[in-house]
Amino acid sequence: MSSLSQTVQSRDVRQLDINPNHWYVVARSTEVTNKPINVIIWKQAIALYRDSQGQIHALEDRCPHRQVKLSHGQVVGNELECAYHGWRFNSAGECAAVPYLTANQKLPNCKIRRYPVKEQDGFIWLFPGDVEPSVEPLGLPEWEHLNYIATVSVINSQAHYSYLIENLMDMYHGHLHQDLQAWAEAALQDIDEDDNRVDAHYTAQSYYKIDKIWSISQLFLPALRRLHPEPLDVSYIYPHWVSTLGKDFKIYCLLCPVNETQTKAYLIHFTSLNAFWRLHKLPVWFRRFIKDSLFGAAQKLLDGLVVQDVQMIEEEQQAYLQNSQRRNYELNRALVSVQRLMRSQVERLG
Ligand code: FES
Ligand SMILES: [Fe+2]
Repeated sequence: MSSLSQTVQSRDVRQLDINPNHWYVVARSTEVTNKPINVIIWKQAIALYRDSQGQIHALEDRCPHRQVKLSHGQVVGNELECAYHGWRFNSAGECAAVPYLTANQKLPNCKIRRYPVKEQDGFIWLFPGDVEPSVEPLGLPEWEHLNYIATVSVINSQAHYSYLIENLMDMYHGHLHQDLQAWAEAALQDIDEDDNRVDAHYTAQSYYKIDKIWSISQLFLPALRRLHPEPLDVSYIYPHWVSTLGKDFKIYCLLCPVNETQTKAYLIHFTSLNAFWRLHKLPVWFRRFIKDSLFGAAQKLLDGLVVQDVQMIEEEQQAYLQNSQRRNYELNRALVSVQRLMRSQVERLG
């Protein structure tokens, strides 16, 4: 082992950097209009905006003239105009116009960083790495698929991303959510892992069975829920998380780590309508109507889970900041694999 990798091995997981050579999720599609917004991915401030053709662009959020935030400005045609003196920048980050340039002056040769960005499956995916992307965004095929209804909840936690991922990979914490009846009796069966992912396979009891169209109401009527066994698979597909509970549910957590003690993420819950073959024979416009009208059906459940999880994650972070030497007693070997993956993703940069 090289001395560099030794340093990384011994580096505290709560202070790990991210591997920037992946696609992170920085916003929902609907949040980005022709009015620029500021997002932060791992300490880098970025101005996101849509041009006159609806195309998304991501530029460093810093005007090279006087270093103020470009996201205070406005989009003019396909250029981003700074609020202060009106300098304009094209989507490559080059200065394209200065309103008071005199005939004998040249445009300043200043350039800011542009980031590769994609709009896909309802979200804005950004690649913060220095190299050209060689991987694709994770993708959520259920987002457009007519057989799935979606619910989105936003996670804003004052904690390192490792706490969130460990929370999501440790299904023994169903205990915390007992009053919300999410799942019960998880038991880890086995783990698969490679350089890019950890798959932990649990058995569990699910409260929900979506086999009749009215079973969807189980999402908001607890009296209709009946515990029954289902496989529960959770995967850390670096840097994001995906889970399936039986055939009826799929949940994604798309990460946007902000800094060492702050993590934003989007939790997306899909309920499957696959069991209703009669529904699939109906006209597409009607199926889309059903999908759209049921959007957010699991909102209360999902938001409730997030509040409980965020409280625990933030307390872990606080305890760490007060005393980073105190050790945990961990029984779930999936978490060993998860920490190994986080470390090796950062180590491979070295
Ligand atoms: S600071 Fe942006 S144009 Fe002057
Ligand atoms: Fe949870």
